[in-house]
Amino acid sequence: MLYYSLMSQHELKRTLGRLNLVTLGIGAIIGAGIFVITGQAAAQYAGPAIVLSFVISGFACVLSGLCYAEFASLIPVAGSAYTYARATLGHFMAWIIGWDLILEYLFAAATVAVGWSGYMTSFLGDIGISVPASLASSPFVYDATGWHASHSLVNFPAMLIVGLLTLLLVLGIKESTRFNTVIVLIKVGVILVFIGFGAHYVHPSNWVPFIPANTGEFGHFGWSGVLRGAGVIFFAYIGFDAVSTASQEAKNPQADMPVGILGSLAVSTLLYILVAIVLTGMVHYSHLLVPDPIAVGVNSAGAGLAWLRPFIKIGALAGLSSVILVMLMGQSRIFYTMAKDGFLPPLFAKIHPRYQTPHITTMLTGGFCMIVAGILPIGILGELVSIGTLLAFAIVCIGVWVLRKTRPDLKRPFKTPFVPLVPILGAATALIQMAALPLDTWLRLFIWMAIGLGVYFGYGRKHNKKEPIL
Ligand code: ALA
Repeated sequence: MLYYSLMSQHELKRTLGRLNLVTLGIGAIIGAGIFVITGQAAAQYAGPAIVLSFVISGFACVLSGLCYAEFASLIPVAGSAYTYARATLGHFMAWIIGWDLILEYLFAAATVAVGWSGYMTSFLGDIGISVPASLASSPFVYDATGWHASHSLVNFPAMLIVGLLTLLLVLGIKESTRFNTVIVLIKVGVILVFIGFGAHYVHPSNWVPFIPANTGEFGHFGWSGVLRGAGVIFFAYIGFDAVSTASQEAKNPQADMPVGILGSLAVSTLLYILVAIVLTGMVHYSHLLVPDPIAVGVNSAGAGLAWLRPFIKIGALAGLSSVILVMLMGQSRIFYTMAKDGFLPPLFAKIHPRYQTPHITTMLTGGFCMIVAGILPIGILGELVSIGTLLAFAIVCIGVWVLRKTRPDLKRPFKTPFVPLVPILGAATALIQMAALPLDTWLRLFIWMAIGLGVYFGYGRKHNKKEPIL
């Protein structure tokens, strides 16, 4: 399989089978969400009922996933939601969604790189190598009172991992693909071992009360906490849509894209729910507000699971790496497609003569991501990713419904069931989750979009190719 191997100067080779697509999806999905954010969301918002948060958020993702699957089987070309919007909602909306997807993929890669840095620093600490805090965290802190300097210089490990993975992507996807498969096996293996062995160390008393009483503040335990928890761990599900960026390389996209998208989503949802049940059973949720909650779960089992400790950290590092890799790859895919459509200069679609990869796009993406990962705190990055992704989900859901009306004649190898109910519910749940995000995050989304409009009116509007996709 390989996403960047080319049949000719401009064609992508169809080498990805069903299993490859599911693996690609799992590579993109399982990362910082389960290894870092789950424990923190349980400790702060939902308690053991974080399990319910996973069910709610997973349900919302399935609705959007069904809509992605219809589009991915109908329009099997690279570009994901950007391409679907271009086919259904016109050039301007296509640009909006394309620019929004940059926010999702680029900032998600940076967010996970910051999580990687945390696990790496802790792993190195375990083996006696201490990394100075001034070189392993953001130079800024953002809290209720605003921005402050943190006395740190830069998050060097986060920059390093982005730089290394960018190099891998430039050199060729064959290597990258093998790397992805190995890593998916490691991280899923570690998670299964955690579930299997951890289940023997569960104390059911930790699940009581299952939904801790609300503290009096919205979002802090009780049912409102379950809902906020669902919004926060939404990050854990991001990535299944990345499968659709590779549809031009799928052997049989009509049949295989839905399997890739829904299959990877199903596997991840099941693993998340099981991890959440076991983790909150092993440790009281109040002890999970740490950078490495799964490791804390293993530690709580004492000597019985001591052998598992290093594996958990290695598994987490592997898992986080593959998420960064797929996000960076998805990002350069979107640039490539947008450039081929004339929205961006042709430079972005250039292929390296020897490595046959879109090296310029990949290096620009990686370089920008390194800067962002090096200087911004994880909270700011994560919320931006969530709002950008939710917007993409809402537009894709609406697009499915629009296309059913405007082009009922098209042959749809995979049909989203219960249209318009599923698209409406999918868009509504995405918009509700967006509404729950802080005002500052909305402001940053508007600023990002304003920059995008500048690029559109300065370049894309004049140069984009007008021919329809469908
Ligand atoms: N879903 C991805 C993660 O959890 C972004 O890291």
